[in-house]
Amino acid sequence: MDSVTLEPVRAAGSPCALLNGPGSAQQHAGTRAGPLGCVPLSHQVAGHKYGVDKVGILQHPDGTVLKQLQPPPRGPRELQFYSTVYAKDCCDPCLLELQQHLPKYYSTWSSPDSPTELYLKLEDVTRRFQKPCIMDVKIGQRSYDPFASQEKREQQIRKYPLMEEIGFLLLGMRVYNVGLDSFDTYDQHYGRGLMKDTVKDGLCKFFYNGDRLRRDVITASVAKVQSILRWFEKQRQLNFYASSLLFVYEGLPSAPEDKPGTLSLQKNKGVLEYNNNIEQSLSTMYTLHKSHHPSTQDNSAWHDLLTPSDACEQETRVQELPEVEVRMIDFAHVFPSEVHDHGYIYGLRNLLKVLQQILDD
Ligand SMILES: Nc1ncnc2c1ncn2[C@@H]1O[C@H](COP(=O)(O)OP(=O)(O)OP(=O)(O)O)[C@@H](O)[C@H]1O
Ligand SMILES: [Mg+2]
Repeated sequence: MDSVTLEPVRAAGSPCALLNGPGSAQQHAGTRAGPLGCVPLSHQVAGHKYGVDKVGILQHPDGTVLKQLQPPPRGPRELQFYSTVYAKDCCDPCLLELQQHLPKYYSTWSSPDSPTELYLKLEDVTRRFQKPCIMDVKIGQRSYDPFASQEKREQQIRKYPLMEEIGFLLLGMRVYNVGLDSFDTYDQHYGRGLMKDTVKDGLCKFFYNGDRLRRDVITASVAKVQSILRWFEKQRQLNFYASSLLFVYEGLPSAPEDKPGTLSLQKNKGVLEYNNNIEQSLSTMYTLHKSHHPSTQDNSAWHDLLTPSDACEQETRVQELPEVEVRMIDFAHVFPSEVHDHGYIYGLRNLLKVLQQILDD
């Protein structure tokens, strides 16, 4: 892997050259309205909330999100991280590969009436979803960085003593309940209440839509987490503390899903969706097939019941997974390094293990 490209960051509390000071960020303390045209991000599931806290996340009218810079050294550190990863002349393959796991970064942003108040302008990774189910999971064995004071370390450990052992913490989530047409929300206290033997149930809630467990979403999310893990297993130049994964999926049910007995042949949707008889007869045949071949790996008998092109599309259906997002966010504590990020890797592996257990149940 190439050499370290992020400049070493100063220890917590030290002055930072990128910004003049925290004054600008403090100006909005207590105010509810955002800068011109911007509103607090309505679907934020964790972190500082604009109007409640001094800083927070806003939604820009153009559909991007604005993350107000935290006071130094955290805000400037996150800005430095995004600017480095998304530098126009960046040619470090490791950082270029990392981009796909992050929200797109556009630039810094400030409103004309407070030009010194800086925001990071980021892609809203929930934007393409109609009823986005969102979960923020902090990853790693330590929530404090190597420069944290003893007091900060103790405070972070007290918040969730199991971080070291579990390697991740559910910070918040909102889940769409299909039957009720409403969202259930869970805040940080819910996640902190999860123990070693209940963390699986906690995660499970995110994938349960009130009617059934979205196993398809779990499978798709696992693939994304594995891809992030592969990046971490290769790179030794950055270590992440108190950083999160943001999971998103569509809460609205799509056309007939992955239940046995229903078919959602994507290309034939128009026919199958509007013709119950056809769907029913295919469903009956599928059930018949299952009862005759309960554990067969060979689908030839089933294929015999379909035309060659149907059979081909059946194959397609089996492999089709829903579109989901799993993106890394929150980089206020990212530091250059020369070693693998063992804490983050531990957390990702354990998270994958728990997701796999949910699938195996
Ligand atoms: N790019 C994004 N797209 C959509 N939602 C986002 C995005 N970034 C953040 N959010 C929402 O905002 C929440 C908080 O984000 P983030 O963790 O970056 O801020 P924070 O925890 O307040 O920051 P910090 O830890 O630096 O103080 C996330 O849980 C998520 O709901
Ligand atoms: Mg956060």
